[in-house]
Amino acid sequence: SDTATIPGPPGLPFLGNISDIDAETPIQSLCNLTDTYGSPIWKFNLAGNERIVISSQALMDEICNEERFSKIIAAALEQVRNGVHDGLFTAHGPQEENWGVAHRVLLPQLGPLAIRNMFPEMHDIASQLVMKWARHGPNHTIKVTDDFTRLTLDTIALCAMDYRFNSYYSESMHPMIQAMADFLKVSGDRARRDVVTQMFYRAESQKYQDDIELLRKTSFEVINTRKQNPTDKKDLLNGMLKGVDPKTGKTMSDDSVVDNMITFLIAGHETTSGLLSFTWYYLLKNAAAYEAAQQEVDNVIGKDPITVDHLTKLPYLNAVLRESLRLSPTAPSVGITAKEDTVIGGKYPVKANVPLIALFPKIHRDPAVYGEDAEEFRPERMLDEEFNRREKEHPNCWKPFGNGMRGCIGRPFAWQEALLVMAMLLQNFNFSMEDPSYQLQIKQTLTIKPKDFYMRAHLRSGVS
Ligand code: HEM
Repeated sequence: SDTATIPGPPGLPFLGNISDIDAETPIQSLCNLTDTYGSPIWKFNLAGNERIVISSQALMDEICNEERFSKIIAAALEQVRNGVHDGLFTAHGPQEENWGVAHRVLLPQLGPLAIRNMFPEMHDIASQLVMKWARHGPNHTIKVTDDFTRLTLDTIALCAMDYRFNSYYSESMHPMIQAMADFLKVSGDRARRDVVTQMFYRAESQKYQDDIELLRKTSFEVINTRKQNPTDKKDLLNGMLKGVDPKTGKTMSDDSVVDNMITFLIAGHETTSGLLSFTWYYLLKNAAAYEAAQQEVDNVIGKDPITVDHLTKLPYLNAVLRESLRLSPTAPSVGITAKEDTVIGGKYPVKANVPLIALFPKIHRDPAVYGEDAEEFRPERMLDEEFNRREKEHPNCWKPFGNGMRGCIGRPFAWQEALLVMAMLLQNFNFSMEDPSYQLQIKQTLTIKPKDFYMRAHLRSGVS
């Protein structure tokens, strides 16, 4: 059959297309280049390595087939392995035994039922945010992403390992959090350097190793403290220490528990913090959606304390979160690769082990799926009925949590946390944008967040 060449920008020999891609906002560059090429599949070259960008639902659907394709650990994730090895997120897959053991042990621990038990801890941390904003008053400028990051970090640390960072009232970050942030930043930087260049970064490399050491040492201390003071608490730490893999009969090694504990801190906070930040941006830009969301909270919860059962009765809030992740997927891409040389889209030859970058911000705006208003924030399209109908017609058109067995294991956790926080904040405050003319800008690390986005919170009267 006929094959076609995958289009791509002409690059320099050796360096490839590195100058086409902005190191600060690579995802934005990939989206812009996708528009430039006008093709749902195109390729570029980074220091000799080919990458193929996928940006339509049809091609995404094809590469979600786990018989032909699997997750690939490319570039930045390969560097993150320096710190967390074959932890769930950075493992190559079932070929590494620790992945399977951890996956099977942790799946029930992070399932919807187990997550319900974590509601009191989530509620505790969310209430602290309400108190902070209430005390600061309506004239205080809220740095949205900073406070949501404090919230999500404190929540995952409390739920995963019964550890309190108490981030809200300190300007500087806890040493472990700072080490994690620096470790992730440098992992990304290292991924863009060749081996020779890397040799010139000796001081940075030393600090990188020190950061990893601090993360692991702190985690081991948490484990040892728990072993010396056993509890029946049903948190993730006990789940990991006591859980037995039904398939192999094995338990997780201490090293694997540490790898996954750090993994949860990493994977469990930036994405959810970004989701809440973008959600507030979209609500404050779209008055009708904001009013509908607050109205739903007033109707369903009123002035009562929020319970875990309320969260199943908030379809509009649910739709708002989905729509926010559609337009601004906080984990903006995943790496997928063909298991064997193959042809995709009926005509494009693709070699095994070449990374295919699934570009969510584009896949999620595919006009063939989302129509003419694909660029608009319209939560109504994400209400269950339409959402499910669309998913049937256009499978894999909304993938912010990744695919298949390598999809997000923390999804129920993130969803419960985000819904609770949204409901509690809308119940207690009226919000306004600090600068109503603010235009969305993106800050990218491993994840994306709104940049320089500020707001104010006015306590609503009459709420207990
Ligand atoms: C995997 C997104 C929250 C833990 C993933 C993947 C995506 C994703 C796209 C697949 C990555 C890939 O294919 O390379 C998100 C989003 C979140 C979120 C958008 C919030 C809105 C969380 C939370 C946790 C978590 C709260 C922990 C409690 C993980 C882990 C994996 C993962 C451990 C790797 C799973 C595996 O491969 O076995 N997530 N995530 N995530 N996520 Fe999340």
